[in-house]
Amino acid sequence: MALFKVGSVQAQPEIFAVLDVGSSKVVCFIGHQEAGAGVRILGAGYHASAGLKSGAVVDMEAAEYTIRHAVTKAEKAAGLAISSVIVNVSTRSLKSRHINVETTFSSAEVADKDLRRLVDTAMAEFAEPEQAILHALPMNWTLDGERGIRDPRGMFGKNLGVDMHFVTANVGVLRNLAHCIERCHLRIAGMIASPYGAGEAVLVDDEFDLGVTLIDMGAGITTAAVFRDRTLVYVDAIGVGGKNVTSDIARGLTTPWEAAERIKTIYGSALESPDDDTQMVPCPPMGAQDELHHEPLSSLTSIVRSRAEETFEILRDRFKDAGIGDFAGRRIVLTGGAAQLSGAVQLAEYIFGKRVRVGHPHGLLGLPDEMTGPDFAVAAGLIKHVFHDKTEANNGPPDLSGRRIRQRRYAGGNVVRSLKWFKDNF
Ligand SMILES: Nc1ncnc2c1ncn2[C@@H]1O[C@H](COP(=O)(O)OP(=O)(O)OP(=O)(O)O)[C@@H](O)[C@H]1O
Ligand SMILES: [Mg+2]
Repeated sequence: MALFKVGSVQAQPEIFAVLDVGSSKVVCFIGHQEAGAGVRILGAGYHASAGLKSGAVVDMEAAEYTIRHAVTKAEKAAGLAISSVIVNVSTRSLKSRHINVETTFSSAEVADKDLRRLVDTAMAEFAEPEQAILHALPMNWTLDGERGIRDPRGMFGKNLGVDMHFVTANVGVLRNLAHCIERCHLRIAGMIASPYGAGEAVLVDDEFDLGVTLIDMGAGITTAAVFRDRTLVYVDAIGVGGKNVTSDIARGLTTPWEAAERIKTIYGSALESPDDDTQMVPCPPMGAQDELHHEPLSSLTSIVRSRAEETFEILRDRFKDAGIGDFAGRRIVLTGGAAQLSGAVQLAEYIFGKRVRVGHPHGLLGLPDEMTGPDFAVAAGLIKHVFHDKTEANNGPPDLSGRRIRQRRYAGGNVVRSLKWFKDNF
């Protein structure tokens, strides 16, 4: 993760760069930890996306061009050249899996090696070679059946157990993303699930403690993360976002896509209002043969509402199926550009039956004014995440080899990784 000053070879190891690779824009933040003050953004840049759809590369060259431009803007602003990045992951394949493992250990006192062995066993049990592990989070340790143990080391017992939460994504999608970033001459220092990152940027301590659901509403994808007792307990993603609302408007009101995008942000709302039937929306023509026409605002509201409603309902049903309904607390925080849709908060409150607010990034020094909106929550969260110690059992980029993890491998390099985690976090 070393960075070098332009025109010099002096290493600045404490400086990090992050990339939010989105369907509508790519954002790059370069930052460092300022002693006694917090994380400062040294340079930020973004560029309209091409070649990227719902977190996946669909046109390698176009995506490379977009990433290069966003990075160059941030580098110029920071006066630095970067050589590695931490990148977000927000593909449809993003998912959670929980694995519980137990072991009987020989010595009476729990030691580092016992925790390590257990985490490694859980990792080996995760037999989904087409999914790469992004995050491996121990949620709950048990000792002789006793639950809720934060750190079992130094305690006495016979049976040690752990509930591991794995956040994973499709290896093929990640490989393409990695390849695209490497074509920009950048090394990948880590990959972080988008809603996990966004949570870091916008949530407050009470929400993390009591339970909260973060929903990041992007252009091509909507992702969600549930936090409880300061731990990420669930993630999900659906391949629907603000672009779908725009397409529905373009089709429903027979107007070009760009016009539909403008109509959405100016007149669009997920809530009906009394003057919807009297107010008319000007809809630019589809082609030279066509003429400007006007449609009642009620038609637009109904188009926007049904897509937003459907998105929230799918998520609500997924949460229910995953059994995290009550677990997820009484609060929902929306981020992403599409969270700015008028009436989105009220509609979400109605569908989920919870308190809902829009989350803006906080706690970063030097964040440019135009990047303080909910659409910059992921980038802001990634850079905060880098500087905060996390209770994770894996560090660095995920293994994208697609090979099944075998426990034997953990006798080698990865033990060092888990060891680092145990040192950092306990
Ligand atoms: N005021 C607004 N009202 C409604 N939608 C809006 C508003 N402002 C922005 N959007 C929508 O937000 C979306 C862009 O959000 P964002 O920048 O978070 O996406 P992204 O990160 O590039 O994409 P993704 O996360 O899906 O890959 C677009 O669909 C845009 O139309
Ligand atoms: Mg996004």
